[in-house]
Parts: sequence; structure tokens; C-alpha cells
Amino acid sequence: MKLLLKAVTIASAIVATPVLAQTWTLAPEGSHLAYGSIKKDTIGEVNSFTNISGQVSQDGKVEIEIDLSSVETNIDIRNERMIEFVFRKAGTASLTADFDMSEVSALGVGETTTVDAEARLSLAGTDVDFDAEMFVARLSETSVMVSTNDMVFIGTEDAGVDAGIDKLMQLADLPGITRTVPVTARLIFNLDDKKAEAAPAEESTVLAAAVEGDIKAGKKVFRKCSACHKLDADRHTVGPSLHNIFGAQAGQADGFRYSEPLQQSEIVWTPETMAAFLADPKGTVPGNKMQFRGLKKDADIVNVIAYIQAETQG
Ligand code: HEC
Repeated sequence: MKLLLKAVTIASAIVATPVLAQTWTLAPEGSHLAYGSIKKDTIGEVNSFTNISGQVSQDGKVEIEIDLSSVETNIDIRNERMIEFVFRKAGTASLTADFDMSEVSALGVGETTTVDAEARLSLAGTDVDFDAEMFVARLSETSVMVSTNDMVFIGTEDAGVDAGIDKLMQLADLPGITRTVPVTARLIFNLDDKKAEAAPAEESTVLAAAVEGDIKAGKKVFRKCSACHKLDADRHTVGPSLHNIFGAQAGQADGFRYSEPLQQSEIVWTPETMAAFLADPKGTVPGNKMQFRGLKKDADIVNVIAYIQAETQG
């Protein structure tokens, strides 16, 4: 019984260890955050921040801290005025966004993509929400570059800095400063793999059981799946989204049309049941419509399961 044997080999590799937490940390060197302004309709200026820091968590939560006192306008008095009147000595501003990490993690070295991010800038008690299309390039196994694809415009009124700009105009005796600010960013993030400090308290033991596989190797294996499956919630393509698949009953995701056999299989996805399914999709659920022969190597199966777990469980 080849199949049974496979399931047993894989089950023995399943241990209750914390899932590897992967955090992307912003590398200050190489990163650049700038905004522009136009004075008197004619004079364009670029200001930037020399001190930014931040990270992206495994589930795609981006948090960037901007040290407002590090603003560089190339003129000292102008730096001081920006800090005092526009930023109102707020110290730091924060930029948060939600990012689709499954797309980023699935990128091979040298590959690029664009992703939409919903972002929020919080400055001196005011929040501005905006959408930004970001260009992402995988520079190496452990680093990505994320930059604004076009520039992003932020209204000074929305950002709560209008009064400060009025003050600058008055101080510099300027007839006008534009009230929408183009922003561009180029951010480099490096991956650090570290064990989660404490295993997250999971409701079900199925979810707590992590496969001791090689997540990086599993990511490569997942390229065989990614033509048909995405890991983000509700994103069904040729196949159903595999978001939060562990613990779910087979064939039940909303918005995807499954075959009858899978829908009625009564399988609950655990590392074991998925291992059996991936080893022999047609044999495990006869008549299902996944056009995939299955994975031959046990190691590939263990690793891809580890990867899916790591990517879809925060
Ligand atoms: C050619 C497209 C294709 C490829 C490649 C593919 N799948 Fe699928 N997969 C599907 C389709 C379509 C379904 C739905 C099958 C059905 O309803 O019978 C499915 C179903 C599944 C399910 C059940 C989901 C649920 O909600 O019940 C899992 C788990 C799964 N695939 C995992 C994988 C993994 C892991 C890989 C890569 C090793 C992979 N698939 C490769 C198309 C694909």
C-alpha cells in the first residue's frame, strides 16, 4: 500500500513546533522616501527623509516609521521650518499598509510584479488613507525592493498640514505652494528567519501542528501550484484560494465552483490528508477536477505543506 505508507512517513514528520516567523526588515541603506512641492507654480523641490525604519510581518502588515526630524530639504532653515510648522514637532509619522505577501514570496530571484497596497499615513494625529500601486522586485532569496510604481499624491488638507504650509508661505513670502504632494518611495527589505518566540495560541490542534518542512524549498515547489492557486483570501483563479486551508473542509470555499466529488468528499484538510491528496490527487478523490498529477517526492510534499502553512497562518 504505497499510499498509506506515504501518509505514515509524512505524519511522522509532523510535530508541534512554532511555525517559522518570517519578517522583512527595512534596510535603511538603499531605501529612499521623498516628496515634492512646487512653489510659485514654477519652482520644483524634492525633500526626503534620511531616517526611516520598519518591517513587514509574515501576513503582509507593513509598518514604517518616518523620523520627521530627519527631513532633508537641503537648506537648514527650511528643515527647521518644516519640522516646526508642517510636522508640528510630531517626532515620527507612521506609514502602514496591507500587502499581499503570497505574491511577493512566490517571486523568483530576478522576477518583478506590481501589487496594490492600501496604505495609511498617520502624521500628528491625522490619518490619510490612500491606494498605492507598488512595483516589487526580488533581488535575492532574502531581499526585495518595493517602490512606488507611479508617484502617489497626498492632499495637504487631508494630511492636516495646510495651516503649516500657510505659515511657510507667509515666512518665505511666497504667493503659492501646491496643495497636493507627490510622494515616491524605494524601499529595500531583507528577510530574517527567526523562530516565533512563543507558539501562537491556536484554537485547534490541527492548526497548531506544523510540518517540519523546509519552507524555502516548499516555496519553490509551490510554483507548481501557483498557476492555479493563490494563497490570499478569496482569490480564486483556476483553483480555489488556499488561504486558511488547514482545518477547512474540502470543497467548501465560498465563490469557487468545485466538482461534486471533492465537495462531497468530507475530507478535512490537515497536513496528513493534504499529503495523501498531493501524492495522488485522482486516486484520493476520484473524479475531482484538479488537473495536476501530484507530487512524486515525499520531501516536496512535506515542504510545500510547510510553506502553505507558514504563508497562510499568521
Ligand atoms: C492546473 C491547475 C492546478 C494545479 C497545478 C494545482 N491545483 Fe490544486 N486544485 C485545482 C482545482 C481546479 C481544484 C478544485 C478541484 C475540484 O473541485 O475538484 C483544486 C483543489 C485543490 C485543493 C482542495 C481545496 C479545497 O478548498 O478543498 C487543494 C488542497 C489543492 N488543490 C492543493 C494544490 C497544491 C498544493 C498544488 C501544487 C502542489 C496544486 N493544488 C496544484 C487546480 C490545480
